[in-house]
Amino acid sequence: MLPTLHWVGDVDGHLSLIDQTLLPTELRSIECRDVATTCEAIRSLRVRGAPAIGIAAAYGVCVGVQGCDAAGRAALAERLDAVVKELASSRPTAVNLFWALERMRRRAGQCNASAAVRDVREALLAEAREIHEEDRRMCRQIGEHGARLLADGQGVLTHCNAGGLATADYGTALALFFSAHEAGKRIHVYVDETRPLLQGARLTAWELQQRGIDATLICDSMAAQVMREGKVQAVVTGADRIAANGDTANKIGTYGVAVLAAAHDIPFYVAAPTSTFDLSLASGDQIPIEQRDPKEITHGFGRQTAPDGIAVYNPAFDVTPARLIRAIICERGVIEPVTEQRIGRMVGSSAP
Ligand code: MRU
Repeated sequence: MLPTLHWVGDVDGHLSLIDQTLLPTELRSIECRDVATTCEAIRSLRVRGAPAIGIAAAYGVCVGVQGCDAAGRAALAERLDAVVKELASSRPTAVNLFWALERMRRRAGQCNASAAVRDVREALLAEAREIHEEDRRMCRQIGEHGARLLADGQGVLTHCNAGGLATADYGTALALFFSAHEAGKRIHVYVDETRPLLQGARLTAWELQQRGIDATLICDSMAAQVMREGKVQAVVTGADRIAANGDTANKIGTYGVAVLAAAHDIPFYVAAPTSTFDLSLASGDQIPIEQRDPKEITHGFGRQTAPDGIAVYNPAFDVTPARLIRAIICERGVIEPVTEQRIGRMVGSSAP
């Protein structure tokens, strides 16, 4: 199994990542040797999912500051600024992108004024590797905390892809299923296909198959019926940004699933690392929602499916209000009930 993304070589190396637009029929990597290629990969969802975007951006900084060892620290600072700006403009909603870029900037700022450019680049690569490694650890911890919420024999439903492909590996929402499965619990996962770009059908269904987990693919519009038939006892999704009050942005359609879960008295859980919280935003109303190309709806996967000239609205994310979320599972534990106070206590401090 190829890693979702990894750094190849030393400080003059490059970022390699699975091109997720080709899955599930082709498993192939692309090599990012400059910032433009990295930004394009993020923008066109070759790498996607909040934590993976953050990790890719951190490595993107490392490729962006190559080739300026002789130019001096002032030139490096200027380059770093430009590279961070370019990467920050690739996608607006997942806060992990900005969180990772801020960490990279801070790490450069901590380097001694007399340090050589190459030493600063080494420090930046070390920071990117730490972000990557931390995410790997956080996903495992999320899986362990969250698996306790799932019982043997349950049906669970997920939306979009919050698995290994969206993170360093193992995932956030899917980590609960993987961890429960490893603990010997039999669970059956209903996978929303996730219109319009089919992250559920193309990526989640593929990942679950790879790991030998029972899964059934459904169209998004079938979730209500599946719940009504009593097939689902819990819903688990990931998150792209969680505001201080617990309002959660995630893939478009998530809010609808949360409403359906509430209507059927099914617990709705969000699984996300602390890097996905944005405590600077009081509520979900302030979360920027990415608007994507109308062609994703009218010409999905190369075939025209709507008349020329039709008006299209294509927000990539929606916001689920905190009141619909039973608990948020992060690497530090389970936040339940989802209140500003509990989030502040769990996430606001740097200590676990
Ligand atoms: O547009 P995408 O595919 O990047 O959207 C991804 C999601 O919405 C995921 O559910 C979210 O980032 C959580 S990933 C662990």
